[in-house]
Amino acid sequence: MRTMIIAGNWKMYKDLHETKELVTALKAAMPSLPGNVQSVLCPPYTSLALAGEMLKGSPFLLGAQNMSQHDEGAYTGEVSAKMLKATGCTFVILGHSERRQYFGETNELVNAKARKALAAGLRPIICVGETLAEREAGVMAQIITTQIKGVLAGISPHEMPNCVIAYEPVWAIGTGRTATPQQAQEVHQLIRKLIAQQYDWALAERITIQYGGSVKPDNAAEILAQNDVDGALVGGACLKADSFSAIIKAAQA
Ligand code: 13P
Repeated sequence: MRTMIIAGNWKMYKDLHETKELVTALKAAMPSLPGNVQSVLCPPYTSLALAGEMLKGSPFLLGAQNMSQHDEGAYTGEVSAKMLKATGCTFVILGHSERRQYFGETNELVNAKARKALAAGLRPIICVGETLAEREAGVMAQIITTQIKGVLAGISPHEMPNCVIAYEPVWAIGTGRTATPQQAQEVHQLIRKLIAQQYDWALAERITIQYGGSVKPDNAAEILAQNDVDGALVGGACLKADSFSAIIKAAQA
């Protein structure tokens, strides 16, 4: 059985004081996690070191929301994989649609970052997803195929099990409009098939594929019950301990 991974993408929310409050509340709400479930908190860079310290000995793992494709150097404002690891990160979200939309990230750049993350021993959560215009134009499958091939290029069969894929339809992010469980399952199945084509079925069956886009306590169980949905990448609902812990509980098999 694949591990369910529920990750919280805090985006650009929570200063240090607010981070302390949320992490304290989450640890109190979830002193342990259901057996088949992992949970990753992805606060902003400025909160990573504090969250990393606070999460020691807790069931929560730490992740970042982005990183540089470079090891080190004169790259003002950038943060490396090594720096993330030093804060306690084991995961990093890459290629989120907001990074693609507002910061010009391409499949090639996301691929370079993913390979760098894997080389450094971080598990990348690699995001893909179509826009509303693309879905309505009937090109969702082509977009997802291009994205998956692009972001996974050159990742070895040996490294691939450390990758998590997050399917986040852009039209469902922050809109309150969730993909139906059937829509999510259809795309997750496509993604698993594409991974099987690039590697093999045995490997594809091991890969955790998360759904993201307006996941809330009241819709999580139905989405997570789909065969090929192996977790969630949660935005708005991860900013409060009660709603995030309710989603984690909904992931219990
Ligand atoms: P919302 O859950 O706020 O729609 O955000 C989803 C997301 O972008 C997670 O990365």
